[in-house]
Amino acid sequence: MKVPHTLFIGKTLQYFDALPSTNEYLVEKIKTTTLEEGTVVFTANQFAGKGQASNRWESTPNQNIAMSILLKPSFLAIHAQFYLNIVAALAVKNTIEPLVKNIPVQIKWPNDILLNSKKTCGILIQNTLNGGHIANSVVGIGVNINQTIFNPSLPNATSLALESEQTFDIELIATAICQQLEHYYLLLKIGQQSYLKTTYFASLYRFETWAWYKKNLADSEPFLGKIVDITTTGALVLALENGQAIFDLKQIQFL
Ligand code: BTN
Repeated sequence: MKVPHTLFIGKTLQYFDALPSTNEYLVEKIKTTTLEEGTVVFTANQFAGKGQASNRWESTPNQNIAMSILLKPSFLAIHAQFYLNIVAALAVKNTIEPLVKNIPVQIKWPNDILLNSKKTCGILIQNTLNGGHIANSVVGIGVNINQTIFNPSLPNATSLALESEQTFDIELIATAICQQLEHYYLLLKIGQQSYLKTTYFASLYRFETWAWYKKNLADSEPFLGKIVDITTTGALVLALENGQAIFDLKQIQFL
């Protein structure tokens, strides 16, 4: 991966031919070592990737981006941590949009990136806290780039190559994501929260649209809801036929 044109993200780059998980590597490393803000860990072969909600993240070697970036957002209160998800999602969305002309790119709450309504990117953010603030944030980004065969158990997975019938330079895209991430992170740092939220909503899948959902409880019935807001901690606010309800990631499924 090339050193990006940035102030700090990617200036320190740790490349591994193979690693179980770039997130796990960074999370463990910072327990014992002080690393510079903006350190990027990238691997060509992540063989035990971690996903949200204790899921696994699968990635074929040499086909995709698997990287983690260390941020130190000590300026960000814990209750505002969802802004890191917004920043990371916007960085990936803005990087891939010009590469896949005419294909709709959307953000699915909290921060999946969809191409033609299928998932091409997952983001896993692991924070360590200090007092009321965030000391370290490991921003893990997995983007399916050139992989064209997916496990049949993941019918909603796709890649840039699959949707656009081209192949891409993986490391160039990783470098561009670092540049975009720095751009949006610095906007957050100077207090542009409301701009970031509006920009996130403008690309949010199903925003202000009635659609079907289901609670993650046995025997629960599908219901209609409309995404109207996200709380600063990242919960989904749905308008319902008879009021409003708030859900966190583990409580709801999109149907
Ligand atoms: C999701 O479930 O959607 C989140 C997937 C996050 C995957 C990335 S790949 C790089 C980093 N290292 C990991 O182990 N996971 C994240």
